[in-house]
Order: sequence, then structure tokens, then C-alpha cells
Amino acid sequence: MKEVFNLCGIVGSVGKSQTYEFLVDCLEKLEYRGYDSCGIAVNDNQIKINKSVDGVKSLLDLTILSGNLGIAHTRWATHGKVSLENSHPHICNLKRFAVVHNGIIENYREIKDKYLSEYYFNSETDTEIIINLFSCFYDIYHDVNLTLNKLIKILVGSYSLVIIDNLNSEKIYFIKNGSPLFIGVGENFNTIASDVNCFKDVLNYVVLNDYEYGYLSKDQYSVYFAEKEVKKKEHELEITEDVYDLNGYEDYMLKEIEEQKKVIQNIMDNYYDFTLNKNLINKLKQTKKIYIIGAGTSYHAGLIGKVMLDELYNKEVYVKVASEFYYENNVDVENAFLIFISQSGETKDLLKCYERFSKADSLVITNVKNSSLDLLCTYSLYLYANKEIAVASTKAYIAQILILFIVRFNLKHDFLIVDEFNKLLDSVTDIYQQKNKFLEIANNMKHTSAFYIGKGIDYFVCLEAALKLKEVSYIHAEGLMSGELKHGSLALISEDVPVVALISDKKIETKVRNSIEEIKSRKGKVFSIVTENIGINDDIILKEVHDYLLAIIMAIPTQYIAYYTAKRLNLNVDRPRNLAKSVTVE
Ligand code: G6P
Repeated sequence: MKEVFNLCGIVGSVGKSQTYEFLVDCLEKLEYRGYDSCGIAVNDNQIKINKSVDGVKSLLDLTILSGNLGIAHTRWATHGKVSLENSHPHICNLKRFAVVHNGIIENYREIKDKYLSEYYFNSETDTEIIINLFSCFYDIYHDVNLTLNKLIKILVGSYSLVIIDNLNSEKIYFIKNGSPLFIGVGENFNTIASDVNCFKDVLNYVVLNDYEYGYLSKDQYSVYFAEKEVKKKEHELEITEDVYDLNGYEDYMLKEIEEQKKVIQNIMDNYYDFTLNKNLINKLKQTKKIYIIGAGTSYHAGLIGKVMLDELYNKEVYVKVASEFYYENNVDVENAFLIFISQSGETKDLLKCYERFSKADSLVITNVKNSSLDLLCTYSLYLYANKEIAVASTKAYIAQILILFIVRFNLKHDFLIVDEFNKLLDSVTDIYQQKNKFLEIANNMKHTSAFYIGKGIDYFVCLEAALKLKEVSYIHAEGLMSGELKHGSLALISEDVPVVALISDKKIETKVRNSIEEIKSRKGKVFSIVTENIGINDDIILKEVHDYLLAIIMAIPTQYIAYYTAKRLNLNVDRPRNLAKSVTVE
């Protein structure tokens, strides 16, 4: 595995009559991989390129390029600022070959000095080096396969590439290394992209492995590894519904918040008897040490998982933020088991941990089949949450908690799981009916800061609630342990800092209520979200569920609060500034 991964989405298509519009459609579905800028190159006996820094849709406002073969790119800037010059596709000096690239070339300076001293460059990107290097070696070999193979020997870094040649309007060339790349097989057309979920009109798909290269034409594709042709397995593309259809919703975030009941049902359907793979469960039973590893929202789900597994008493369970865990000293994974939690299965920080600790057996809990972690880990459990499109994760979070709940159930059958799922469905239905109350709380989020406070599991939900508010509304928010308030953060309380208190555990109710009083007596405004057996004069009262599922019902109101706050501020909730859905850089 390479040292550096990169964001960005790439796609190519050959054989469609409206290739340009098709590629725009694919790019929209890849925007989660970055949305700083985008571009398309179409071969119409000559390579024509359109680029934009105003979002994928704006490519349709430019002259539509004709031709039935093209490549496209959506970028999350790493090498070079956001600009048209730095946007892909990049073309070689001779204007013959164009490329879209997902990855980072580490030895681009050496390549430039050794092979390309005579070439000129228009951008600050490492990608322009690749296409000129390709052109340089093509001039020597006059054969694309030999040239691609030579590139693999020279380039260091990660580089999934899709290349077109203006003297060949029938073939698209590719190399896969580091970043994901899949071929989509259609009828009289073929396509290639970073994610199978952007495939439309595709019947089967092929998973490419590192260092594979080859070409696709409208009715054929060939894949090679080290100069030998490889027979690839085709998988049927299971896209059950159009996940990109907003179904009347204004944004994906709201649609996904309100899809959570369906996700619970999907999980019940897909794990119908809740019995997991025997080997996985035996491994988990035998292991004394479990590391749960995640980033962002997935890390927050891991914190809830630890609470569930901790109660088995005979295990040490640690939850680790992947970007820190990789650098921890003295980690002994001998006889340990790793649980990776990753909606996308592609987060670079987690992949680095996998790389470092790969001698331990591992499970990934992911939403994406054939994602890098899915392919690498010993075991996989899927979220069945359908694709999550909004950058801020909502339904994947609750699905992650539910899968951890099923894992916990398999380790000790001390509750009736179907009953607990049904109770959860009931409680979530009730939450949806309280939307107006969440809107009212959101209307109070009009200052520069906000706090969420709680204890135990509620504190872990506070971390997620604060992250959600920050991500989409840009209001500074913190999740705080209510007991820690008096040790410092209380100094920040004023009438301009709204506080939301979460209480789901009767045992610690009075403690959190004491903190609420401390805030109120300093003129702070507090809203309380509590469960039925606690609620009296509280703002939101939620129907009881199993202790391990409380995080789900406590979190959903906070997702609504973040959503409504961002909407009031007129922000793009699905595409918050500076973020990306799947972070494949360190
Ligand atoms: C990004 C996303 C977050 C997500 C985190 C981990 O930061 O914006 O929503 O929680 O990555 O992603 P993963 O795909 O590994 O769950």
C-alpha cells in the first residue's frame, strides 16, 4: 500500500451518444470525493476540455462538447490552489493525450528533472507531469501498453489514471494504483470510475487491483498486470433504487435523517436472524483485547460500541481515533482484534492503521462493498444504509451503532433483539413527530457558540451533536461532560451561548440537572432532551429504548437541530465548505 492517498473522483466513458451530459451526471455522484473544481475532456477527433470552479452543474452552462468518448474529474485540492489551471483533465504539450488523475505523485520533481526538462507546464499539479511522461514514452515505444507499464515502473505514489488519445476515438486507457477504480460494463458502452455508485445504465462491474492497467472500448475491455492479460470477474451491479433521487426533499441531509427508520428496517431484513459469521464471533469471544478504530462520526459510533463491549467484563476495549492511533508507541496487537468503523471504507487514516497493524485479525463495519477496507479486512459487516450522500453523516452513524449492537448480541444473548429493534422503530417514529420542537431549538442557535452537555453515553452523543452543528452551520460547538463544566468551561456561559443537555440515564439524572441549574444561574439558556422515565418539564421527551440504543434516539434530534440551524443560515447543508465525504488524504 502506498504512503499517500488522494481525494478526487475520476470517470471515463466510451460509446454513449451524449457522453458529456453522462459524465456530468457521473461527476455529480462523485462530488462527495471533493468539489473544489471539476472538468471534462471529450474526444471529437480532437480533445476539447471544459473546466469550472463553480460546481459540477455549471459544466452544463458551458458549451456542450460533442463526441462519444470522454473523461472527467472532480477535485479536492491538495497540490496547488483551486483554479481552472489546476483542475483536471490535463493535456500533454503535444495536445495528443489527456488525463484525469486520482492520487499524488511523490517523485514528480525527480521525473521532471530526469525526463521532462524540455517540457512546459501550465499548472502547479503533479498530474501534468504524468501526462507528459506518458507522451514522452509513447514517442519511444509507439505502444500504449508498454507505455503504461513503463509508467508503473517510474511513478511513485498513488495514481489511478484515466487517459485518452486524440488519435484514437475508440479507446480509454487506465492504470489503477492506490485510489479505487472500477470498470462498468454496459450495452454498447463501457465506463470506468472511482466508485460504482456513479454508474448508470451499467449491468456488471469489475474491481481493479493495484498495478492493473489496460483499456476499454465501447464493447470490450482488457486488463493487464505486469504485461500479462488478466481474466477479471464481473459482479452484478446491485443498485436497488435511485439513491440520488431527492424524493421531494430539498436536501440529502434531511432526506437521510428521515430515512433512518428505513435503515433500521433494512438492517432487520438483511440480518434477519441476527446470527453473524461463527468464525468472527469465536474470534471476538477468544480475544482479550479489542481496538475499535474510526474517524469523525464513525469514531463517535465506536465510543458507543465500547460501552456495549465493556459490559462483557472479560475484555479490554479501546476506541482509537485513527489519525492518532497510527502514531501511538508501544501498541501491542498480538492476540488483539481490530474493529474498523468506516462508512466509506476508504478513509486514509484507517487504511494507514490497517497497514501498520495488519497482523491482527480485523472486522470492518462499512456501508461500501468492495471499498478498500472491505477488501482488506478479515471480516466485513455492512450497514445496508444505502448510499449516504450528504457530507455530514447521519444514517450511517445510527447504522454503525446498530451493527455494533448486533455484534454485542452475538457475544451474549441477554436480550430479545427483535423486540429491541421494534421498540427502536417506535421511538424513531415518535421523534419524527416532534420536528417542530427541534426547529424551535435550532432557532435559538443564533450565536457564535453552542454547547451540548451530558454524562456517559450522552456525552458521547454530545460529541457527535457538536460535530454535526459545526460541520453544517459553521457555529462553534462543543460536546462537554456535564461534570467537567465547573472545571473551566462554565466561564464561557452567558446568555449568548445556548446549551443543549442530553439525559437518558436515570442514575445520573440529578447530576446533569445540577449542571443545568449552574448554567441557568449564570444566565445561560438550556434546552433539555431526555427519555420518558426522566422527562418532566423538558423540551423534548423521547420514548425509551434499550440502553445500548439510547445514543440513536438522543442523536436524531441533534441531527435535526444542526440541519435546521444551517438552513436558517441559508447554507449548503449537503456540501459544507472545506469538507469532503470521504477523506482519503492524511
Ligand atoms: C469525513 C466525513 C465524516 C466522516 C469521516 C469518517 O470527515 O466528512 O462525515 O465521519 O470522514 O469517514 P468514514 O467514511 O471513515 O466513516
